[in-house]
Amino acid sequence: MTVTLLLGQTLCFSGDPFVDGLDVAKHDPHGGVAMSEGKIVAVGSADALRAAYPTADLVDHGDALILPGFIDAHVHYPQTAIIASWGKRLIDWLNSYTFPEETRFADASYAAEIAARYFDLTLSAGTTTVASYCTIHPESVDAFFGEADRRGIRALAGKTCMDRNAPDGLRDTAQSAYDDSKALLEKWHGRSRLSYIITPRFSPTSTPEQLSALGALWAEHPDCLMQTHLSEQTDEIEWVKGLYPNARDYLDTYEAHGLLGKGAIFGHAIHLTDREKDRLAETGASLIHCPTSNMFIGSGLFDMGLAGGGIPVGLATDTGGGSSFSMLRTMAAAYEVAQLRGRALHPAELIWLATEGSARSLHIDGCVGKLAKGFEADLVVLNLASTPGIAQATGRAEDIWQALFPTIMMGDDRAIAETYIAGTPSKPKM
Ligand code: GUN
Ligand code: ZN
Repeated sequence: MTVTLLLGQTLCFSGDPFVDGLDVAKHDPHGGVAMSEGKIVAVGSADALRAAYPTADLVDHGDALILPGFIDAHVHYPQTAIIASWGKRLIDWLNSYTFPEETRFADASYAAEIAARYFDLTLSAGTTTVASYCTIHPESVDAFFGEADRRGIRALAGKTCMDRNAPDGLRDTAQSAYDDSKALLEKWHGRSRLSYIITPRFSPTSTPEQLSALGALWAEHPDCLMQTHLSEQTDEIEWVKGLYPNARDYLDTYEAHGLLGKGAIFGHAIHLTDREKDRLAETGASLIHCPTSNMFIGSGLFDMGLAGGGIPVGLATDTGGGSSFSMLRTMAAAYEVAQLRGRALHPAELIWLATEGSARSLHIDGCVGKLAKGFEADLVVLNLASTPGIAQATGRAEDIWQALFPTIMMGDDRAIAETYIAGTPSKPKM
């Protein structure tokens, strides 16, 4: 058995800091991770690991911090090329930028080009797993999973289903959404490190018939996740009321069609009623916080008080409604949004959200998101002095949190010393 030993600082969590407090985070300034055949075989002090694995290949990352790779729990890889498009709010933004770009994914070669570009960008940012929406085209799903598979990445995605309120060339039907999703699920779900997610875009772009068809598909494949959008902007919520006059609220449009339960993943969820919050907690659904997107498109301030309150919460870029591919930038935005609601998230909470929190929200916390024996060796190594501005701030740090926080707030690709996919260095040379 060939063992590779990475040495550096490490940070391990023995619980959820939102529930169990900050003491669950354990820092080792002279730690290490031993990896073999794509898995973590031991985490401990550098000295103990050297003694246990005297013949291991050594990679000394010095003072850099070894963490689980970042997990981006809600993205639209087809929106890579239109990221940071100016001046619109959600519905206008979808119509002006998103839908015209998504139309291009009928072309399998364009889909393949963007999928490759997307994974180059995310690996450069230290992200090792994403949960993506594709487009209505099966080609877009094949391109995404094909590229992830070639690179050995753990990835989740689904065909985005829309049968109304979308332009020509970007609508399926209730029946074709069911048939295509089923065929793609059977092709990709469980192959290598890939998982299929049943993906109605959101209630405004699906008829009740389409939501029911996808609810039926989910009932037939309960081991799959289901992802969609919920209560992102107030105009959208008014639109949903008009389209679904009998629904109690936005969440009810999904529940009425079999699209609520454990394994349901709702992006944004900013403007929730008390009934919706209670129902989400009762049913075991997850919420995904997308802070750069929520500020960029002007959606509102997510209530981070929901984390630790019985609803799993993950963190995500929401590329390309979000304005960055980087989970460092996304943690910074989560900090800023929480500040605007009167709460300062601790760096331990931010790192946990971007790793184990996102893994839990996607129900993959048994295999990734944690530095622990038996977990897959998807890792990011952070240089905590990657720019002069960061280095001068951390020069006077008295503990790991003071040393780490400037990188969370100001770090970019330069802070990513390496990204490991299943134990293999995978940061692209860009
Ligand atoms: N709601 C429905 N589709 C989308 C999308 O592509 N991005 C965002 N941010 N919200 C959505
Ligand atoms: Zn989205």
